[in-house]
Amino acid sequence: MPLQKRLLDAPMVAPLKVGLAGLGTVGASVVRLIDQQRQELALRAGRPIEIVAVSARSRGKDRGIDTKKFRWVADPAKLAADPEIDAFVELIGGEGNPARASVTAALNAGKPVVTANKALLARHGIELATLAERHRVALNFEASAGGAIPIVKTLREGLAGNAITRIYGILNGTCNYMLTRMERERLSFDDCLKEAQRLGYAEADPSFDIEGQDTAQKLSILASLAFGTRVDPAAVYVEGITSITTADLEAADALGYRIKLLGVAVRTDKGIEQRVHPTMVPKDSAIAQVMDVTNAVTIDAAGIAPITLVGPGAGGAATASAVVADIADIARGMRQAPFGRPSAKLVVSHKAPMQRHEGGYYIRLMAVDKPGSAATIAKRLAQHNISMESIVQRHSGPPAGGTIKGQGPVPVILITYATTEDAVRKALAAVQRDKAISGRPQLIRIEKN
Ligand SMILES: NC(=O)c1ccc[n+]([C@@H]2O[C@H](COP(=O)([O-])OP(=O)(O)OC[C@H]3O[C@@H](n4cnc5c(N)ncnc54)[C@H](OP(=O)(O)O)[C@@H]3O)[C@@H](O)[C@H]2O)c1
Repeated sequence: MPLQKRLLDAPMVAPLKVGLAGLGTVGASVVRLIDQQRQELALRAGRPIEIVAVSARSRGKDRGIDTKKFRWVADPAKLAADPEIDAFVELIGGEGNPARASVTAALNAGKPVVTANKALLARHGIELATLAERHRVALNFEASAGGAIPIVKTLREGLAGNAITRIYGILNGTCNYMLTRMERERLSFDDCLKEAQRLGYAEADPSFDIEGQDTAQKLSILASLAFGTRVDPAAVYVEGITSITTADLEAADALGYRIKLLGVAVRTDKGIEQRVHPTMVPKDSAIAQVMDVTNAVTIDAAGIAPITLVGPGAGGAATASAVVADIADIARGMRQAPFGRPSAKLVVSHKAPMQRHEGGYYIRLMAVDKPGSAATIAKRLAQHNISMESIVQRHSGPPAGGTIKGQGPVPVILITYATTEDAVRKALAAVQRDKAISGRPQLIRIEKN
């Protein structure tokens, strides 16, 4: 008898009965995917997967799926502890209740949990992981970072034997979409944002994405898996993309770089540095090729070449792909410590003191049109031991070591060799005090591959 028939017919193979809370973009896609992949999933997971009960806010809403075949439980926390379900899937969202209360109720009832909720994990991840460990059940959250990219599994399982030195990635599709269009079409930040909102790639209130907070939440989850730190978005230095202009993207292009909003977690002599900021990446790097809403994560591990995973980072189908894979693991009876090691062994990570950050810098400043201003800039940088890899003036005139004369401030772009952020900031503060530049200089960190 073929394996498929044996498995599906075998009365001994009980289905995994799933309670699903949240039937929005992701929840409805999960229902569809389980339906479409029913047979294949049963074969891969070793038993059928059946949604038996669901919960959402409004029962009568048209969701494009048939919800009548599922038992309706109005309260997600009641569903979570329902004796008839074997596993609970939380796709409500938000760090507070009912998401938190229902995940807690499921774990306390000894039920494994799948969630896509980065906000909940970033805020209460350790508490929930501790609870999962105490009750010896799985807490799976592949969809919480990187959408369909299996990054959680890669860090927790695939690279369990490797010493990871750095992970960095594009974890927010909205920002990458905006930077891509700004670069390609020379659109201003504001025009691009309006366009992203019109197309549904940016929220009506886009601040959580464009200010870098969304990336910080995801990074804190990935850093925990990679480095054993306690999940804590407050330990992440965060800068969004709102200061990036087309002038920066043009200059980056001319200098062989692209600008991406990266989340970076790196092991340094002083601990794990976690940061989110616009970053110049060499145009030939894998991460620089990642355009539009696509996400990507590069992992550097000792002794092997970097690994880059690229894929759709959001949307119903992409997120459902990760959620269903997590459910399949539960059906297989797999259980890992949620963050790859006992929660009690996760260590506190302090916010990265960025003045100690070492690397190359892109500096764009407006040198004033007066004799000696360029020489002053050069002198101040030299005083702080900052060496230049390249200097570009966007208009005609002498280089930064000479005198600038013309019709107003002259844009000067500097690329430094590796230095400290402290040195760069002090040099620029001195240049401002000297009145050799007008306005605030733009500073973008360079991440080498
Ligand atoms: N969308 C994505 O691309 C994406 C990507 C990665 C991760 N995620 C994560 O996936 C989760 C779900 O996101 P989503 O985009 O699917 O959200 P969504 O479309 O807003 O859906 C949320 C669902 O939760 C239900 N809900 C809200 N409050 C509730 C309450 N008090 N009691 C019961 N049900 C309640 C809603 O019910 P009604 O439908 O009745 O209003 C809706 O079905 C979030 O944690 C999100 O961060 C989403």
